[in-house]
Amino acid sequence: MAASTILLVDADPPSRDVIVKALTDVGYSITTVADEVQAFAEAGDHDLVILDILSGPKSAADVCREIRATPAMVAIPVLCISQTDDVDERIRFLQAGADDVMAKPYDALELQARVEALLLRFRRSRDLAPVLAPKEIVVRRPHMVAVFSPKGGVGATTIAVNTAVSAAQRHTASVLLIDMDLQFGQVATHLNMTPDRTLAEVAKDETAQREPELLRTYAIPHELGIHVLASPGSPELAELVTAKSVELILRAAVAAYDYVVVDAGSSLDERTLIVLDHADTVIFPVYPEIAALKALHSLVDYLNEAGSVAAKSIFVLNNLFSREMLKMPAIESALGTTVAAVLPYDPFLYLKAVNEGVPIVKGAPSSIAAERLTKLSADAFGEDGVAPVARPAERKPRRLGGLLRRT
Ligand SMILES: Nc1ncnc2c1ncn2[C@@H]1O[C@H](COP(=O)(O)OP(=O)(O)OP(=O)(O)O)[C@@H](O)[C@H]1O
Ligand SMILES: [Mg+2]
Repeated sequence: MAASTILLVDADPPSRDVIVKALTDVGYSITTVADEVQAFAEAGDHDLVILDILSGPKSAADVCREIRATPAMVAIPVLCISQTDDVDERIRFLQAGADDVMAKPYDALELQARVEALLLRFRRSRDLAPVLAPKEIVVRRPHMVAVFSPKGGVGATTIAVNTAVSAAQRHTASVLLIDMDLQFGQVATHLNMTPDRTLAEVAKDETAQREPELLRTYAIPHELGIHVLASPGSPELAELVTAKSVELILRAAVAAYDYVVVDAGSSLDERTLIVLDHADTVIFPVYPEIAALKALHSLVDYLNEAGSVAAKSIFVLNNLFSREMLKMPAIESALGTTVAAVLPYDPFLYLKAVNEGVPIVKGAPSSIAAERLTKLSADAFGEDGVAPVARPAERKPRRLGGLLRRT
């Protein structure tokens, strides 16, 4: 028990020191952070979160509510420290989903006992869950799908746009398409839009990055039933969108929309790694060229060093050429995995779709391409029976961002 790791969110040094001493004395390992951004980045790697006094604009109750609303963190107990013995304050914490609340002033022994009890309770329910209800393990449906290709021009934007529009066709639900191909994103072109606001504006508005409802005001409604957060569209403006803002935008996006699709473009940097980390499903378009397939194989191996990208990936063979250049076994062997979908070659259909700004699933719904793109969208969001990435709700693996920072 005493080996558990605890995340303490506390911006008040005297208060923090008291808690750290009380818990390290009995052998717990404590990480301390001061605000909610760091708290979210760290929470998934700990066994318990303690929220005391925060430095950011949000209250401890707000942060508690957000942690409880994050599926990857449902299994982490949260202990809130109330600054007074006021009943209303304690009730606010409980309503925000706190698992326990302690009011100041408290005794170190009481803090140790409550922490131990919380850890024990959560550990027990985790251990017992499969025994008591093996068929009721919560399977989290994919909520965010990202499309990424280390090579440009292989259909990433076509797939992202059709995945989003198809989701809106299949469901009466809110769908957001984010163009994270930050420098030269073409989502707006594929949808015949001229955006008057883009991610560059969101990057300048910190409140919108944290508030799902405000973020929505930057997304442009499209007649096909989706909302679009457009790419800044120039290398200079793309620089405004930092890794930290990408992290916040994605978190706000999944809170604000039922389905989120991200065109992650084709350049690998810290921001892309954050997208791949947050996505529940990653679609990799591939095209039949041995060198490109091998490069993608290496990339996925590299990404797997720090996370479980392979487990949530869908590889799509996009036939950009009229002739079959490689047989499927050779493709899968170079790729090191199976191909889940094949998009047919059709120069006219794809080009018409881009030139007219009408995605194939809308403009040519009875074509084979539309049929495959619709199925791909449903598969990526875990519909039609078995979800390709269905897995029990569990803690997220280590973060992919560490890969770049380490090098
Ligand atoms: N299966 C296909 N058959 C024929 N043409 C295709 C096919 N898939 C895509 N294309 C065409 O290839 C071009 C590139 O597609 P798209 O813009 O979707 O790729 P991308 O990976 O997003 O490219 P970029 O790196 O420029 O962002 C487009 O003109 C599209 O119409
Ligand atoms: Mg593109």
